[in-house]
Amino acid sequence: MRKRSLKESLGIIGRGSLNWLTEKPIVVSFEVTDSCTCYCKHCDHGGPKDDSRNLGPADYRRYMDVLRPCVVQISGGEPLMRDDVVDIVRNIKSDSGLPYTILVSNWSLMTDELYLALRAAGIDQFSVSLDFPDERHDEFRRFPGLYRHLSTIVPRLGALGYDDIVLNSCITSANLAEINAMADKAREWGVNICYSAYSPRRTGCRDYFLNSPEQLALLNRELDSVEARRDGTNWIVNAPTTLEATRRYFEKGGIPGCKAGLRFLVVTCRGELQPCSMQFKRYPLQAQARMVEEFARCNTCDECYVSIRSYLDKNFPQLLWENVSGYFSFKTRMQSKAAPGPAKA
Ligand SMILES: C[S@@+](CC[C@H](N)C(=O)[O-])C[C@H]1O[C@@H](n2cnc3c(N)ncnc32)[C@H](O)[C@@H]1O
Ligand code: SF4
Ligand code: SF4
Repeated sequence: MRKRSLKESLGIIGRGSLNWLTEKPIVVSFEVTDSCTCYCKHCDHGGPKDDSRNLGPADYRRYMDVLRPCVVQISGGEPLMRDDVVDIVRNIKSDSGLPYTILVSNWSLMTDELYLALRAAGIDQFSVSLDFPDERHDEFRRFPGLYRHLSTIVPRLGALGYDDIVLNSCITSANLAEINAMADKAREWGVNICYSAYSPRRTGCRDYFLNSPEQLALLNRELDSVEARRDGTNWIVNAPTTLEATRRYFEKGGIPGCKAGLRFLVVTCRGELQPCSMQFKRYPLQAQARMVEEFARCNTCDECYVSIRSYLDKNFPQLLWENVSGYFSFKTRMQSKAAPGPAKA
């Protein structure tokens, strides 16, 4: 995975440190629409929704001025359903290069032109959901032809060499045996991979959680193999500590210590603040401090280990170390494909 320059990373670390001390969020996820092109089996979104009261592109500037996150996710629903998504990115990105901006999308609507326009507007990382390394992806996402589309456009855009595309694979009971096969696919397509973990909280369905000792044993074998495949290029984007915690999450059926509402939060498509995408207590923009007091300080929910959470559960020294250690490792730097930097999501 392409790393940022030291200067850009120091900008992120500087703002992140300030936010940490002042209890502003490090990461904000803007869910720019509730509508979606897919109807995935593991998700509570799906199909068209009422988009008439969505924030407009210029509104995002106001949210950035107040919240000042150093990392932003643009997500949904399916963010590429917004025909003004490039304009939204322009309003989020500042001249300083901050925030580090990640587009989280299923890529059903991605085109070569849109990818380039989004890059030019300020997207630093494209997170592309992939649940299976073959046509089972279409069945799981209930979108015929999606895998075929990905299997042509991802390698084609990967070959441009920007090294900013990351396959985003949510581990479920259905794709557990495919964890390494999806890493193979990332290699074949010339892109990176990041794993996250299924949470039953979205849909209430426990079937896609790992419920048996056999499933947990398979998870451990698959993740052991993933660990053995790391090299200096950061193509397996999760930090080792994150994959370790993913094992614990599935084994224990939950993981405490969530910092939702404090270190990260969600802005809904209509502009309300939510602690996360699965907690629906909502606050106006100016009430982020109240959300910290009322929700974050007493939150005991342990029901997910999604990427945004896994990144921010860490204490500050650990987070800092995982982001800067590449600069001080001669071996890592020499093996890296590009200059070093942050964002092990
Ligand atoms: C909610 S989607 C929104 C962006 C876009 N539609 C996509 O699928 O990438 C963001 C990520 O959440 C993941 N996701 C959906 N349901 C989930 C669940 N129940 N637990 C954990 N992750 C989930 C998806 O696989 C996807 O990678
Ligand atoms: S995971 Fe993404 S693509 Fe699938 S239904 Fe949810 S929002 Fe839509
Ligand atoms: S563990 Fe945290 S991020 Fe996950 S659902 Fe609960 S409150 Fe939300």
